[in-house]
Amino acid sequence: METKKRIPVIWLQMQDCTGCSESFIRSSYPKVESVIFNMISLEYMEVLTAAAGFQAETSEQNVLKKYKGEYVLVVEGSVPQAAGYLTIGGRSGADLLREAAAGAKAVLTFGTCSSWGGIAKANPNPTGAQPAAAMLQGIPVIRVPGCPPIAEVMTGVLAHIVTFDQLPETDMLGRPKAFYRHRIHDKCNRRAYFDAGLFAESFDDPNLKAGYCLYKVGCKGPTTYNSCAEMRWNGGISYPIQSGNPCIGCSEADFWDNGPFYTH
Ligand code: SF4
Ligand code: SF4
Ligand code: F3S
Repeated sequence: METKKRIPVIWLQMQDCTGCSESFIRSSYPKVESVIFNMISLEYMEVLTAAAGFQAETSEQNVLKKYKGEYVLVVEGSVPQAAGYLTIGGRSGADLLREAAAGAKAVLTFGTCSSWGGIAKANPNPTGAQPAAAMLQGIPVIRVPGCPPIAEVMTGVLAHIVTFDQLPETDMLGRPKAFYRHRIHDKCNRRAYFDAGLFAESFDDPNLKAGYCLYKVGCKGPTTYNSCAEMRWNGGISYPIQSGNPCIGCSEADFWDNGPFYTH
């Protein structure tokens, strides 16, 4: 990996909570230090860029010109269409996104907000939020959804691009097949209980702790595509269902509107 050229990365934050950035910096394999120092050259990111204000904005403009056609654009957060929301350096988020996407080698939408619209797009969507892809017709966008995505899924997509110098294979919705080809339900540690018809009936049911299936308390695992049950979180330690919480479908479009998250 040390012999590969580091890929310039510009990371734009639109209407987001920074949770995707927070997840990214916790990558364990590869370590985020290895990603940042050996694989990519993180040219602009509001969370980690040392510069601020005009210096940061000028630096981004320089990178857009210097690495035109070479850099990867990461987008976190949804894009508001209504006027008056999200202005950075005096320019609208949509304007900044279109400008940066025009010269990008690839656009990666990290998180459910930039991939599908996320919480800002939830009914009644006061800002007119849209996913980044809706703004970028004609530009290939790789969706990496999750609220947030698993750290190693984000760094894994970047590692693929650096290693093979090509974009990962995606499904019909633009998600990398390597990480989104299975439903949570397909690999769930409670699946044997589902197949046996053994369900926790409520959150205070002792069988929930014993490992019974969470379908009857609202689990969306059967309709959710993500790697949580295979890769798990926090370096492979656990994931919501293993911890006793049903999957709420956080990597699926419009999951905030498709509640209730829990059933009693
Ligand atoms: Fe935050 Fe979730 Fe949106 Fe990421 S996808 S910015 S974690 S609300
Ligand atoms: Fe499927 Fe959810 Fe039950 Fe796991 S807990 S087997 S994902 S319904
Ligand atoms: Fe999200 Fe379900 Fe995984 S809620 S974190 S996709 S188990």
